[in-house]
This record gives sequence, C-alpha cells and structure tokens, in this order.
Amino acid sequence: MKGKKSSVINRVAKKGVFPYQFAFTLLIPLRNIFLSPKKLIERLDLKDDYNVLELGVGPGYFSVKVAKSLSNGKLILADIQQEMLDIAQKRLTKKKVFNVEYHLCNGIDFPFEDDSFDVVYMVTVLGEVENKEGYIKEFYRLLRPRR
Ligand SMILES: C[S@@+](CC[C@H](N)C(=O)[O-])C[C@H]1O[C@@H](n2cnc3c(N)ncnc32)[C@H](O)[C@@H]1O
Repeated sequence: MKGKKSSVINRVAKKGVFPYQFAFTLLIPLRNIFLSPKKLIERLDLKDDYNVLELGVGPGYFSVKVAKSLSNGKLILADIQQEMLDIAQKRLTKKKVFNVEYHLCNGIDFPFEDDSFDVVYMVTVLGEVENKEGYIKEFYRLLRPRR
C-alpha cells in the first residue's frame, strides 16, 4: 500500500500519467489565471455545429463550457484512464451536459474515421504522451478541412 501511495505522489510531482486520485486539483478555479474555459473557447474559434475531440479530458474542467458552446455539435471526450472519464461524466451529467461521448483510448491511436473532427484539442496532456510525434500525426488524419 505504501508503494502504491508513493508511486501516485511521484506521478504528480515528476513524470508519468497524472493520477486520477488527484483529479480534484485540476478543478481549482485559480487555473483561470493561466487559461479559463472562456479563453480556450475563444482561442479554438469554435462554431456551434462543430464536432470536437478533447484528448486527456481528466475531470473535464474545460469540457462543460466547451460542450455548452456546441449547441448543435458534439464533444468527444477521450482519456487513457477510465477513472478520469467516470469523474468527467459525473460532473457533466450533474451540469446537464449531454452532447458528449466518452472514449477510453490507448494513448497511441484512435478508433475514429478519417476527417471526423473540426477541432482536436488538449490541455496539459502532451507532456504525458510517450510518442508525441506519432500522436500528433494522428490529428492530421482525424481533422477535416476547417470550415
Ligand atoms: C494533467 S491531466 C490534464 C487533464 C485536463 N486536460 C485538464 O487540463 O484539466 C492529463 C490527463 O491526460 C490523460 N492522458 C495522459 N496521456 C494520454 C494520452 N496519450 N491520451 C489521452 N489521454 C492521456 C491523463 O490520464 C490525464 O487525465
């Protein structure tokens, strides 16, 4: 038990996948100083009918407002930890956000067809991805030409 505890703490402080046990720290509104959901939506230049993929959703800090901005579109939420997806789903359901789908992914490639999305984004995830180049190459396949 002690080993597991120290491995979780190591993953927060050092390298590795962010542990779901600390998901609550990603929901602190102080984060808005660096990037708020509103600012993210402006940067992504979203249209309300876009199909959007968020990778490494964690507990869904950004997802609620992004999904709400897609009144005629859909937000697909993906993460390599089922526990993170469960936390995100609980939060979004509580906030009555239903234009979303949840996908457990393998961190390498994605079970989506070519040209599936108008926008793919992630926040504080790339540092945890092992093959960054291959991962980003997948985005080219998934993204359709911008409208
Ligand atoms: C530091 S958290 C950030 C969560 C969220 N993006 C945020 O900013 O609140 C990183 C998340 O990315 C997930 N993750 C790590 N590697 C991933 C990968 N290759 N593909 C998808 N998700 C990944 C982790 O499970 C974790 O939930």
